[in-house]
Amino acid sequence: QTGTFILGIDTSCDDTGVGVVELAANGQVHVRANRVWSQTVHAQYGGVMPELASREHVERIDSVMGQALAEAGLNVTDLGAVAATSGPGLVGALLVGLMYGKGVAQALDVPFYAAHHLEGHIFAAATEAELRAPYLALVVSGGHTHLFDVPQDGEYVLVGATRDDAAGEAFDKIARLAGLGYPGGPAISEAALLGNPDAVAFKEPLQGQKGFDFSFSGLKTAALLAHKAGARPEDLAAGFERAAVRTLVRTTVRAAQACGRQTVVVSGGVAANRALREAFAQTGLRVVFPGKGLNTDNGAMIALAGAAAIAAGRPPGTLGESATAYAP
Ligand code: KG4
Ligand code: ZN
Repeated sequence: QTGTFILGIDTSCDDTGVGVVELAANGQVHVRANRVWSQTVHAQYGGVMPELASREHVERIDSVMGQALAEAGLNVTDLGAVAATSGPGLVGALLVGLMYGKGVAQALDVPFYAAHHLEGHIFAAATEAELRAPYLALVVSGGHTHLFDVPQDGEYVLVGATRDDAAGEAFDKIARLAGLGYPGGPAISEAALLGNPDAVAFKEPLQGQKGFDFSFSGLKTAALLAHKAGARPEDLAAGFERAAVRTLVRTTVRAAQACGRQTVVVSGGVAANRALREAFAQTGLRVVFPGKGLNTDNGAMIALAGAAAIAAGRPPGTLGESATAYAP
């Protein structure tokens, strides 16, 4: 007996993501397909151009959908539910996936779930462990550095966030400055292996704060000054990565202690970082990361968020009031 097949769509930024997840009768989830078209047109502008992103989603979504169904070995009529990201993100880009998903759901006469992008990032870890509240969630990507306490399933309390750049944004900007290429996360990580983290002084941000916020602009300035003074790119990478990892891990551990949580979910593009994973492994907390291909933006994570909503018996249309109550 097969479970329910849930289609998930994310077009919040510059990736066209379509995935299929199977929700078994016993509540277990399996990713059956996960296809992402990463737009490259933005590279020449050094940042995402919203209008171009929307147009490219329009052009690509049909073929990415076809690839996802083929990978899952399913026909469109096998789908039992559809979930799509409704926010946060670029509004024109979001609309493409949202309206496409609603159209599919209506044509098939199956329930439609509007998903919060960050809840998707969190549920990307649901294939690695059963995600049951209470837990703490660190979403760390190119657009977000947010720390949520999840006291009950479906309830998200924002306990900290970046005051300036997102962590991934800092990786990307420092990589560009040091000529290490794009995307900056993997480039910094690789260069850092060849560098000396003590060569350039990077002060850990917001030391001594009582709250659980993050800041990366100071690290960016330190990198710029060191670069102008002739620091080696490898040393910049090593020093910056160590400081970024330390501030992420220490702040999260303090928040976990303050909230009394033993389980921490770490997700989003930066959660792919090797040094970050190693540092979290030494905290003594139960730390859950998404599996391969589920860290960066994708459709399967949105299907997983939809599966969680279905399993929890939440009504279609929304993934719960509290999920959408948080506006970035
Ligand atoms: O989640 P994501 O695909 O998009 C957003 O929602 O923002 O995250 C992309 C970000 C980029 O800034 C990228 O440099 C970063 O994740 N990233 C990494 C690594 N892989 C991707 N950062 C650090 N280390 C990595 N290995
Ligand atoms: Zn994201």
